[in-house]
Amino acid sequence: MFKEIAMKITGTKERSWLPVCVILLLALQDSSQERVEGFTRGKVILTCRYNAMPTEEVTIFWRYKDDRNVYNIVSGKSDLTDQHRQFRDRTRIFPEEWAKGNFSLLLTDLKDSDSGSYSCFIPRMNIRHQVELSVQEKPTPEVGSKSSSMSIKGQNLILFLVLLLSPDLHFL
Ligand SMILES: *[C@@H]1O[C@H](CO)[C@@H](O)[C@H](O)[C@H]1NC(C)=O
Repeated sequence: MFKEIAMKITGTKERSWLPVCVILLLALQDSSQERVEGFTRGKVILTCRYNAMPTEEVTIFWRYKDDRNVYNIVSGKSDLTDQHRQFRDRTRIFPEEWAKGNFSLLLTDLKDSDSGSYSCFIPRMNIRHQVELSVQEKPTPEVGSKSSSMSIKGQNLILFLVLLLSPDLHFL
């Protein structure tokens, strides 16, 4: 009798844990950050997706490290009055994508100092999506070092030819 009751209790306990676990997993998934990599002087798209909404209803705040104003869209219009100077002339949005629920932001001419977390707030829905940007030094193209090594090779070749021809020069 006791055993049965105990089993029933643990049984219900186990079942009641299942939704908790599911919610926990969903919460973890939701808070997991998207990671994006970019190179200095390059550009990157910071994605923010939600349900499609009519342009005039789009109000979105892009923020850097939670407080720096990267981009404001207020009732379907860009509002750059409070944009932080760090991002001046380096941002672009895509109003034509809003109907698809795509509120991505393009950041150009990347700098090392742009690395960090960006958030896309949709205040109406109380949604916050985070993107972690990591900007790396662009691997310098080999052109410079190649040409210098070429010139060194060229110098070596001339030296080699001079040495090779010098005995003949002696005879002349
Ligand atoms: C969202 O829009 C940007 C800019 O046009 C585009 O590059 C990106 O691929 C779009 N994302 C999706 C999932 O459609």
